[in-house]
Amino acid sequence: MNESANSNPSPLGPASLTLAGHSYSLPVIEGSEGERAIDIGSLRAQTGHITLDPGYGNTGSCESAITFIDGDAGILRYRGIPIEQFVDSPTFIEVALLLIYGHLPSQEEYERFSEDLTRFANIDEGMKHQFEGFPRSAPPMAILSAMLNALSCYHPELHELEDEAELHHAAARLISKIRTIAAYAFRHSRGLPYIYPDPGLRYVPNLLHMMFSLPYQQYVCPNVVRKALNLILMLHADHEQNCSTSTVRMVGSSGANLFASCAAGVSALWGPLHGGANVAVLEMLEQIHRGNITPEDYVKLAKEKESKVRLMGFGHRVYKNFDPRALMLQKVAEELVPMLSGNDPLLDIARRLEDIARSDPYFIERNLYPNVDFYSGILLRAIGIPTNMFTVIFAIGRLPGWIAHWWEQNQTVGGRIARPRQIYTGPTLSDYIPIEERGQG
Ligand code: ACO
Repeated sequence: MNESANSNPSPLGPASLTLAGHSYSLPVIEGSEGERAIDIGSLRAQTGHITLDPGYGNTGSCESAITFIDGDAGILRYRGIPIEQFVDSPTFIEVALLLIYGHLPSQEEYERFSEDLTRFANIDEGMKHQFEGFPRSAPPMAILSAMLNALSCYHPELHELEDEAELHHAAARLISKIRTIAAYAFRHSRGLPYIYPDPGLRYVPNLLHMMFSLPYQQYVCPNVVRKALNLILMLHADHEQNCSTSTVRMVGSSGANLFASCAAGVSALWGPLHGGANVAVLEMLEQIHRGNITPEDYVKLAKEKESKVRLMGFGHRVYKNFDPRALMLQKVAEELVPMLSGNDPLLDIARRLEDIARSDPYFIERNLYPNVDFYSGILLRAIGIPTNMFTVIFAIGRLPGWIAHWWEQNQTVGGRIARPRQIYTGPTLSDYIPIEERGQG
């Protein structure tokens, strides 16, 4: 099952637009949670005008049945289920299947998918040589994006996916191999030998085994670490039309295959205003810890526009209230960090920054709250993940969401290539001047 959403006409009736003395009627549609949109699909044809919305803050790019967010109420639901309900029971893989297929998997579906994750965990030996081509200092996110794209070279049979059976083959390969690629990218950055996946291990312990085992010493994943990383992956699994997911949909809309589209998603996620913020948060906390700046002065700097400094891990395009993921991660960080790494001074600094910001009119007036990245870095650090892998872990978590969105779009009847327009502000008609007539530059 994978229905894309079908909106209904709003009971409020159509919107009317008056432009240069003419009146136009535009349909208003309503989603299953009462969100309304003015359908401007015929606007240009009717009026000769387009809409302008830099950053797309008011633009719905699609209808989607995957994830619901109410940013004012701090609500996040995967296929209708509040994320809080996933805290104790399911594994990340269960959530991945829910997102991709639209229903919670039966025991049999779950086991079949898990077996395929084990079966597909290795990467082609040829791909391993590609790692050698990267400098030791290569950022793992660059390697991850390149290698996901490279997967499309090894699976030409999965460039076009006809049905759910073919989707299963592509999705299981991607979700399994991203973990191996991520671990190898890390090993490469440390000059360590690659460790093969262990078929006896589940998803999270296998990732950590490939990252941390040594040829002469097996890494054993503590239960508390397995649970924390499962939670982190689950909380990152989807977030509707964020920058990287929109990128995946944008690339996929051209007919590009799933591997290439997800590789583009990794690149979009890398930036510090998106997934890269978890690294930026840690760098900010470390800078304060080193005594370079006090928390008070950092917040002061973040309020000065000319400084170009932002309080990293704060603010969100959609949440104008608490990010529910941040609340959950903060709770887990408070419990686990002391248990795993004693008294982490960075946690104290994070608490202090949050206190200062949340009582400051600048942050209050702009509804800037901690987002998912504010506490995730501290937690990842406590479970032993090195900083250069934080955003890679985010990408592993977000992959099921990208796959679900790529497939939803792929299945949409009458889908069109994503191709925004623009308002041109460059020179008007000008003539070409031959180089010898242009004078000295
Ligand atoms: N620190 C200081 N000021 C901020 C911050 C911040 N972290 N975030 C927003 N503001 C201010 C802006 O300067 C702007 O002020 P103004 O109205 O006086 O011009 C106002 O709040 C609105 O901010 P926008 O940039 O318009 O908000 P937008 O929705 O475009 O950006 C974003 C959201 C990118 C998350 C932003 O809040 C930010 O840069 N935060 C820090 C980076 C971060 O944590 N990113 C992770 C996001 S979550 C994720 O991707 C998983």
